[in-house]
Amino acid sequence: MHRIKLTINGKAFEHEVDSRLLLVHYLREKGRLTGTHVGCDTGNCGACTVIFNGKAVKSCMILAVQANGAVITTIEGMAENGLHPIQESFMDKFAVQCGYCTPGMIMSAYGLLAENADPSDKEIREAIEGNLCMCTGYQQIIDAIGDAAKKLERTKP
Ligand code: FES
Ligand code: FES
Repeated sequence: MHRIKLTINGKAFEHEVDSRLLLVHYLREKGRLTGTHVGCDTGNCGACTVIFNGKAVKSCMILAVQANGAVITTIEGMAENGLHPIQESFMDKFAVQCGYCTPGMIMSAYGLLAENADPSDKEIREAIEGNLCMCTGYQQIIDAIGDAAKKLERTKP
């Protein structure tokens, strides 16, 4: 067992964890942050995507012990003061159907827009290429991320 300390959605967390525990299971079981989904056991679906030290990563590909000292944002951290503009855009553009992929998609979008405020459709497609959606056909998601980029640009001081 290893003791880890990390910050999730602005709050300090500290736990003893097994060395083989995956970060996604830590978030869901110890953090009770079940908005981070598990859609596969192969690292392919992206449903588990979170922001880890500023970058979108698949939390099933990281051990909890590797998150010691990390700063993490999950989908729950996006909506703390009302819906985030990316979440609003997903609703406005009908980018959500069953919703299983949605938290991971939104975190990948957040990671992209943090680095690139005005992405092209091609750049958006590349940013979500590790996120699978069985329902939407992707175009609404791409439209939503483009719409969110415009919203965020408008809210800049
Ligand atoms: S749960 Fe599928 S990529 Fe992480
Ligand atoms: S909305 Fe169902 S998997 Fe994407």
